[in-house]
Amino acid sequence: TKLSGEINIVALCSPQRSRELIQRALLENDFMKHLEMSQILTIMDCMHPTMLVQGCCVIEEGDDGSLVYVLEEGRVEVTKDGKKLCTIEPGKVFGELAILYNCTRTATVTALTDIKLWAIDRQGFQTIMMRTGLIRHSQY
Ligand code: CMP
Repeated sequence: TKLSGEINIVALCSPQRSRELIQRALLENDFMKHLEMSQILTIMDCMHPTMLVQGCCVIEEGDDGSLVYVLEEGRVEVTKDGKKLCTIEPGKVFGELAILYNCTRTATVTALTDIKLWAIDRQGFQTIMMRTGLIRHSQY
């Protein structure tokens, strides 16, 4: 499904600058920093870019989540029950909680400016986690 205001970008591979930003964002995230480097690199390869205009709702609290995001450009605001929790700056992961914990979205995320995001879907994300786990398991 498409978010309103979403612009598709044709990009077969991310430029080096984007790759470094995504890698740093994943390594800094509390839940992802323990992944193996091979998993981080595969997640990076599976991410696709998206741009949204200012004011767009990226994530709606209570929805079923399907994408994990890395913010590359612009700023987003996180709110819960209408109260502001924080602002997220470029180089940060968000939208990971619903996918990691298999729960509904814990907060609403809105674009404060035009934004550029990288996204990976739940299936891709979980496949990478599982495949690496299975490979590791078969080595013991
Ligand atoms: P998720 O629950 O999938 O969707 C909403 C996202 O907002 C959530 O993942 C986190 O990435 C982010 N988020 C939720 N609560 C906070 C918080 N207190 N501080 C910063 N980010 C948050």
